[in-house]
Amino acid sequence: MSASIIILLAVAVTVLIAVAWRFASRRQSLPCPVWLRWLVELDNPFTKTNRAAFIVETLALSHGKTVLDAGCGPGRLTVPLARSVGAAGSVVALDIQPGMLARAKAKTEAAGQANVQFVAAGLGDGMLPASHFDRAVLVTVLGEIPYPAVALAELFGALKSGGLLAIVEVIFDPHFQSRSTVTRLAASVGFRERAFFGHSLAYVIHFEKP
Ligand SMILES: C[S@@+](CC[C@H](N)C(=O)[O-])C[C@H]1O[C@@H](n2cnc3c(N)ncnc32)[C@H](O)[C@@H]1O
Repeated sequence: MSASIIILLAVAVTVLIAVAWRFASRRQSLPCPVWLRWLVELDNPFTKTNRAAFIVETLALSHGKTVLDAGCGPGRLTVPLARSVGAAGSVVALDIQPGMLARAKAKTEAAGQANVQFVAAGLGDGMLPASHFDRAVLVTVLGEIPYPAVALAELFGALKSGGLLAIVEVIFDPHFQSRSTVTRLAASVGFRERAFFGHSLAYVIHFEKP
């Protein structure tokens, strides 16, 4: 078998697995496995709007703010968020997988950040305090949640009035959600769109809780 056929087969199998995973996730929780965390941690060099530094910059954080890193994974955004809000601020890093939280915690400790609290829970489980956060980020998580409207309703309730939720999606993620889907879901629970960065295949949207 020639090298080009082997490459084509490998691409086809990868696409098939991605499509099957995406559709199965609509019925049950099948989060990005912990052994694939290195892929998430790459901080995709090809997509500006998915880079941690860019996402954090859009939030214009200042010291003392309270931030939720929802579906924090291995903590790619947790450390930069914690630095941006300083010792007077705080970050809650929430994830459904203890293995992801363990990695995020190790990175946070290595960075000397003591202002992060880790919560092992699923979004939509009702574990978040009401009207508590100034900002929340949901970066390539929404498509992994079987009941996204329930999760967004919990995020809406957890933000203070005037608080912002940044939703980030990128086409390289098998669980990619289109701008129209995200906007419709966010509006259905009461969010108002405030800003858009990027393009239809890779973007950050800011939603405000009125
Ligand atoms: C693709 S990773 C993204 C991680 C991180 N946001 C980032 O961009 O680096 C998706 C993460 O969402 C988490 N997740 C999936 N469903 C979740 C849920 N219902 N509640 C909380 N976290 C969830 C997964 O465990 C995984 O760590």
